[in-house]
Amino acid sequence: MARRTKSSRSARPALTARTADRHRLYQLAVQEPDAELDFVARTFSRLRGRPAVTLREDFCGTALSACAWVKRRATHRAVGVDLCADTLAWGTTHNVAALTPEQQSRVRLVRRDVRSPNATCRGTDVVLAMNFSYWTFKTREGLVAYFRSVRSSLGKGGIFFLDHYGGYEAFKEIEERRRLKGFTYVWDQASYNPITGDKTCHIHFEFKDGTRLRKAFTYEWRLWTLPEIQELLHESGFKHVHVYWEGDDGKGGGNGIFRPTRRGEACACHVSYLSAHD
Ligand SMILES: C[S@@+](CC[C@H](N)C(=O)[O-])C[C@H]1O[C@@H](n2cnc3c(N)ncnc32)[C@H](O)[C@@H]1O
Repeated sequence: MARRTKSSRSARPALTARTADRHRLYQLAVQEPDAELDFVARTFSRLRGRPAVTLREDFCGTALSACAWVKRRATHRAVGVDLCADTLAWGTTHNVAALTPEQQSRVRLVRRDVRSPNATCRGTDVVLAMNFSYWTFKTREGLVAYFRSVRSSLGKGGIFFLDHYGGYEAFKEIEERRRLKGFTYVWDQASYNPITGDKTCHIHFEFKDGTRLRKAFTYEWRLWTLPEIQELLHESGFKHVHVYWEGDDGKGGGNGIFRPTRRGEACACHVSYLSAHD
């Protein structure tokens, strides 16, 4: 890549709500495909004694992880599954198109409900359901139906990876702001109903010129707890379910290293990974 000179850097227009691209900002603020895929590849190899080759990214949105997967190795193949045609189109134009033609030949995007995978979506080593997207299924029956369909569509020796967040702050109606290059990311836990577990969250983006992109994304979720998710994975037929808890950075935060354990901590906010397999 050509080095950018100081003048070209300063010539780049400042971000503003009118011109900002919400998918680009989401990827910058929320996603870390390399760290996630490092964890997935390492854990799969540990559990199976062989590397994972094929990956399905459920709720793929712009398919950033599916594209990152095919970039990692020439043998890797990926399929991204999402219902939203516009988001898939954005991913095709920006993420798939940025791959080499050879890498592009190893990734497929499928517009489909994750609960009814077609032949293209079946038989992979790994199925990913990240950024809590499976919380869209609000009933035990609905979530079990999804988990069962993942289990029956995995390839031989396949492993399902998902993430989870919890801690007492997850139940609060609060906003969290994070300053990033050129914009502020706002995570808005707008409402939580303790009777149903329904939770509405928004992502807003704010810019240095005072403009804002309110409700750039909205999620209508059920706030599931970690014990419930483990029970429902077992109920769906998975024989082995592991929780990977994040280590401590010594300053009250996480260190990005996730290890399997049966002992967590009652902290304000925790993100963990789970694996489920036979
Ligand atoms: C939070 S985004 C996830 C984006 C990305 N995978 C990530 O990890 O950040 C949730 C995505 O799930 C998709 N979605 C919701 N319900 C779905 C379903 N039943 N089947 C397929 N996709 C679905 C939405 O269209 C949206 O793009």
